Amino acid sequence: MSGEKIIFPKGRQIVLGVTGGIAAYKACDLLRRLQDAGFLIRVIPTQSSLNFVGRATWEALSGQPALSTVWENPAEVSHLAAADNADLIVIAPATADTIAKLTQGRADDLLTTTVLASSAPVLIVPAMHPNMWLNSATVQNIELLRSRGFIVMEPEVGRLSGKDFGVGRFPESSKIVAQVLEISKTELLLEGKKVLVTAGGTREEIDPVRFIGNKSSGRQGLAIAYQALRSGAEVTVIAGHTDPFELEGARVIKVNTALEMMSAVENEFINSDALVMAAAVADARPVSTSTTKIKKADLESIELTTNPDILSRVALSKRVNQVIVGFAAETLDDLIKAGGEKLIGKKADLLYVNDVSGGAIFGQDQTSGALIGLGIETVNFDGVSKHEVAKSIVAHMAKKLEKVNG
Ligand code: CTP
Repeated sequence: MSGEKIIFPKGRQIVLGVTGGIAAYKACDLLRRLQDAGFLIRVIPTQSSLNFVGRATWEALSGQPALSTVWENPAEVSHLAAADNADLIVIAPATADTIAKLTQGRADDLLTTTVLASSAPVLIVPAMHPNMWLNSATVQNIELLRSRGFIVMEPEVGRLSGKDFGVGRFPESSKIVAQVLEISKTELLLEGKKVLVTAGGTREEIDPVRFIGNKSSGRQGLAIAYQALRSGAEVTVIAGHTDPFELEGARVIKVNTALEMMSAVENEFINSDALVMAAAVADARPVSTSTTKIKKADLESIELTTNPDILSRVALSKRVNQVIVGFAAETLDDLIKAGGEKLIGKKADLLYVNDVSGGAIFGQDQTSGALIGLGIETVNFDGVSKHEVAKSIVAHMAKKLEKVNG
């Protein structure tokens, strides 16, 4: 395990893209109103927008760096470019030029790169001169963006900069916030659901200094707990040994051994809608734990016994309206086949089969594997972030829950 502290951003996140129009100053108020609505805002101003509102204003208001290009802070940018943490991207104001760039899938600054790299919904709030808004190029660009799933607000009619009047005005902040709340509501896939997640590895004590354990860092399980929280679920984490972490909003029960984890899972499962068994449970434990340090000459004679299979045991008590997601760690060539056997054998509804060849994924933020389940199309992941896998698991789990709850 890497041992590094796992930091989860607090609150729901919005990337606010500000592009170069006079309405950029109105985005300052929008930022404040979005904060009032409980969102954490990260501003990405385009270079030309900085002619209207400077970087210092955005950084002071948001309390976060406001970068414009991918070259300003490459380490920070690569993290942001993955845009893992954005629940929503809002581009306000969006100029005709930025809209045109988005239709082409350009990525020549940080904002367009982030949009292209993110799977979050994008809300576009255009503001421009009526002639530009009504120009057939813009009209077609907007149609194209809408057909690709972008949400585009209609600009308002009214006074524009200078003496002009017409369609193209930036809407009131309250209208944009209302739209943001509407979009984020549809993202709350697990609202009202109770999700139980196990994470990390168990340790089976041999004596006061030794234990049987494994390399699990808990990162995958914790990423699932985080994504479930972001999807509106009430989340309980049963954590074995993990890298240090803080996960605001989740109830955390710490356990040490497989038997402790089993009793915690059995207690909690009854009151849960879904269980994600991401923990790496040690398969065996010493028959007895010595209270004194065992001499090395005697280590060979330690007698082991296998631990109960927690997943299989709780699956026996599963109600029809509950969903269980299992995991499998495999080094085999035929991952899907091996995973399929565990899915059926352990009676899970879904199973993420991890490719752990060479121990490569432990303590890392990246993973490779496949999500399988009866009645779902297998989803393959190759070197993606654990959050991406977590989002997919949460989405599939939500669908299953919807199905079994009618
Ligand atoms: N699991 C469990 N209890 C155990 C061992 C594993 O609940 N005693 C769960 C894990 O949390 C995971 C799934 O079973 O969701 C598969 O774990 P894995 O280690 O891949 O498989 P094992 O059943 O331990 O089989 P093997 O090690 O022989 O591959």
